Amino acid sequence: MSDIESLIQQSLADIAAATSPDLLESLRVALLGKSGTVTAQLKALGTLPPDQRKAAGEAINRARDTLGAALATRKAELDAAALDVRLATESIDVTLPGRNAARGGIHPVSSTLARIVDIFARLGYELSDGPEIEDDWHNFEALNFPPHHPARAMHDTFYFEDGRLLRTHTSGVQVRYMQDLLARGGQPPLRMIAAGKVYRSDSDQTHTPMFHQVEGLLVDEHANFADLKGTLAEFVRAFFERDFAMRFRPSYFPFTEPSAEVDIAWQQPDGSMRWLEVLGCGMVHPSVLRNIGIDPERYTGFAFGLGVERFAMLRHGVDDLRSFFDNDVRFLRQFA
Ligand code: PHE
Repeated sequence: MSDIESLIQQSLADIAAATSPDLLESLRVALLGKSGTVTAQLKALGTLPPDQRKAAGEAINRARDTLGAALATRKAELDAAALDVRLATESIDVTLPGRNAARGGIHPVSSTLARIVDIFARLGYELSDGPEIEDDWHNFEALNFPPHHPARAMHDTFYFEDGRLLRTHTSGVQVRYMQDLLARGGQPPLRMIAAGKVYRSDSDQTHTPMFHQVEGLLVDEHANFADLKGTLAEFVRAFFERDFAMRFRPSYFPFTEPSAEVDIAWQQPDGSMRWLEVLGCGMVHPSVLRNIGIDPERYTGFAFGLGVERFAMLRHGVDDLRSFFDNDVRFLRQFA
């Protein structure tokens, strides 16, 4: 047997006897690595007499291929055996309970807001929206608050240096909605609901500098105060799922005339009754319609605005408005 043949036979025996991937790897390095035996023989080819080189080269290449294949086969056997051992010894208890990801809940202000919007959606009101950073015209002027109008003082406005402001109420969305409708070539009748954050520089047990309002607007040819009363009565009944005595108290907003604040008769824990103010409303002032380009001789409308936190407090019996914004999970979890 030639040298190369005996090298192959010996190496095949070594490979077959290798019992671990590590041993196999050192065999591979010793044979086929950069300074391995087979590699060294290939390098030495040049020293052979020319007439022997071809045959020797073929033999060495065959040896390299044979040993490479034997190494790969043995490696696959060892890997499979190792996997069998793991499969036999490791096990997964599929009956163990899973690990739950902590699940959040809907904030009570958000769910109250959704509940209110949903009730008005069923009455045919279209959901609309406007920016929280608002300009003076939409927040005040178009709503019939001229500059220096005393009613502006009720709003404790946060101003930016450029004259823009954080909207103090959602009533500006009325203006934007009607403008958009006209810009699209539309005309009343219209029914719109808007909801979102509003800001006033005010903070105590019943006021936070940021709170949420829902705004409603209806404009049509014969909209009247009775429609407004009927709509709000229906809303209050749907929201609280019971009937209340309601009272419309004359009030003042520059953008409605007449204006009213609505109180509901609230049963106290001791059984006594108290009037609670829940929203502001009125018939859209003709100047507002005119500012936007809607003919107040032809169209009338009503609008209302309510505080979402107020409704959430009444519905859930919460007595401090600020607890909605403390982010205390023990409080919030009760509503999730
Ligand atoms: N925007 C008024 C407020 O924030 C509420 C309101 C809305 C009153 C619509 C009348 C009509 O106090």
